[in-house]
Amino acid sequence: MRTINISEFRDAQEVLKSRDLAQALYEKGGVVMDDVLISLHGEEHHKRRVTEFAVFGRGFFRYYEQEVFPPTLEQTLAPYLEAGEADLVEFGYRVTMNLTADFAGIDRPAQNTEETERLLKLVKKFSEGATLVHSTRDPEEVRTEVRAALEEFDDAFLTPSRQRRMRIVEAFERGDVDESELPRDVMTILLKNREKLKLPDDVFRRELAFYLQAGAHSTANSTTHAMHEILSWCARHPDARARLETDSTFLQRCVHESLRLHPASPVAWRRAACPVSTSRRGEIETGDRVVVDLHQANRDRSIFGDDADVFNPHRELPQAVWPFGLTFGYGMHACMGRDLDGGVVPKDGAPPEKRQLGIVAMLVGELLRHGARSHPDLKPVADTSTERNNWARYPVVFQSATGLES
Ligand code: HEM
Repeated sequence: MRTINISEFRDAQEVLKSRDLAQALYEKGGVVMDDVLISLHGEEHHKRRVTEFAVFGRGFFRYYEQEVFPPTLEQTLAPYLEAGEADLVEFGYRVTMNLTADFAGIDRPAQNTEETERLLKLVKKFSEGATLVHSTRDPEEVRTEVRAALEEFDDAFLTPSRQRRMRIVEAFERGDVDESELPRDVMTILLKNREKLKLPDDVFRRELAFYLQAGAHSTANSTTHAMHEILSWCARHPDARARLETDSTFLQRCVHESLRLHPASPVAWRRAACPVSTSRRGEIETGDRVVVDLHQANRDRSIFGDDADVFNPHRELPQAVWPFGLTFGYGMHACMGRDLDGGVVPKDGAPPEKRQLGIVAMLVGELLRHGARSHPDLKPVADTSTERNNWARYPVVFQSATGLES
């Protein structure tokens, strides 16, 4: 069995599109990843994906961007604005933890910082379990901790959220409540489709735990990277700041350029379920592992130009290449949260009410409008606990152009 490394953009697209290459990144992380959507293959994967996709029903994005997101953001940002400063990493995790929990369907009845921190701690443990393949710790020790975290999650969050939703779903099935009154989240979809999917309790629990981690880390890290790239760009192009605060198309373009440079998951792994022919990489044999380097593919000069390694929101893109490259994956496992987080690239002349900015651009826009600037005294610190290129701390101050706090 060989390992085939892919780092060119077109090869990466071809491999990710193949339906004969199965997910392989989470084989060691089964304690929290067994039988969750991203680990499934073939018909089973298709059935679950199509079912869960229903969460993005009519008007979902407008509902999310206009109703769910603003109050969560305001509540989370308020203490930082009052303090006049924030660590973007901490802020990013707090806000996205709440957003992802809303999307997954995990209630937080206390609505306070302690509750968010508790959920965040559990979700960080799930992630440690999911990415055991990159861990330097004793795998059995990590698995024991993850099992304990899953139990705690079940008692404190999952079971009460499930009971509340089950009552509403049953009332809907009796005809006592209208479909529009059902919560719009993944858990409700799973409960509505419980006969079709027949998920055992442990799979149901892991599926929700997976959604929490799929959304939280990637959104939080992408927001910090985008702020870093944009603040650095503004330092070199002083006129850009005012434009970013008012021109949402340009803001989204800058966020997409940062997403291209900093894919949350730098690699995707696949294993061949049967022999696969590729146009440029020859035959892949059954059982071969394919490692797709998303980070490198997104910097492929033949696609993104000679300055592919640098942040340039004005770059020309070839036809049919997304501005964020392969950051949200491609093919059958392409990210379900792509449009939610990245928005939709507007067609020329689209009216403002038809635009969908995406959560990362909304977060960045809000921080900029409140005058977020690099902290004059505290430097950002890189996260050395992971091979992934993330920030451990990113201090900013909130200051208007006149020097007054916003
Ligand atoms: C900037 C933020 C995000 C990035 C960069 C990102 C990236 C990715 C990537 C690269 C994959 C594919 C992995 C593979 O091919 O093996 C993926 C899958 C997935 N993502 Fe995201 N993600 C983000 C946010 C989210 C959010 C907010 C959600 C949920 C609300 C989410 C839900 C999922 C799900 C469910 C899958 C699995 C899809 C499947 O296997 O069919 N992601 N994501």
